[in-house]
Amino acid sequence: MEDNMTNTDAGIMLWQPIHHAVNQYISTFHSNDVNIQLNFDLKREHISRVIQNAEMIALSIDCDETVRESARLAALLHDAGRFIQFQQYQTYNDEQSEDHAIIALRLIDQNNWLAEIPEELRHPIIKAVEYHNKLAVPKNETAEVMLLSNILRDADKLDILDQAVKEYSLQNKNRNSAFSLDLEPSPMVSKAIAKSLASKKLPSKSDMKTITDFKLVQMAFVYDLHFKLSYSLINKKGILKQLFDTMPKSDQVFELYRKARIHVENQLI
Ligand SMILES: [Fe+2]
Repeated sequence: MEDNMTNTDAGIMLWQPIHHAVNQYISTFHSNDVNIQLNFDLKREHISRVIQNAEMIALSIDCDETVRESARLAALLHDAGRFIQFQQYQTYNDEQSEDHAIIALRLIDQNNWLAEIPEELRHPIIKAVEYHNKLAVPKNETAEVMLLSNILRDADKLDILDQAVKEYSLQNKNRNSAFSLDLEPSPMVSKAIAKSLASKKLPSKSDMKTITDFKLVQMAFVYDLHFKLSYSLINKKGILKQLFDTMPKSDQVFELYRKARIHVENQLI
């Protein structure tokens, strides 16, 4: 078997040293400020769970080991830029600071994390990291980039939703900066956000003005999922209902919730 090893196999074998190098970089972030430290810790834990989610999604579809390992690498790297972002700007709001996916690409480059990976494998990983926080993956992308991006985007969204419902149900509201983004704690729904949800589209984060908008953006994640496993997990955990329960009760919010729930149910038929 060893004799038949291809370039592609060589790329897979680099998971351990890359995982080690990235973890080492991440572990350099400490703060005496309890809030900053908490946010570093939460991001570290988020990355671990997104790696597990990506692995789980990859296993649920008919893909080879190369894709599975590439998905884990993309998940490992996707939020590497969050630490320096929070250290510098004390926010996870990209609009108010910098695009954290672009920071991650810079770090990958500066630290040579993917330097040993063959180009044909490195390219989709880098693109998946770049696209993970964008409104959509460009339609003209290659099948490899599309698949890896979709796995990462679903894996990330699944964890964000899990954590969001936990966070919003806590007494101590919004202790995790990733779930407040310094937005107004208002029941108001911005027009552009409501319009996107009504047409089953992921809204642009730049249109968010209130926490209610943010929760609706999270609800709209169901319009940008790609794998059956993702829908079935959201359905099984009752994520949409839990999210809805933390939102102001209005006909508009109820209608958007109802639509999202039906959308999930329809994917599972
Ligand atoms: Fe993430």
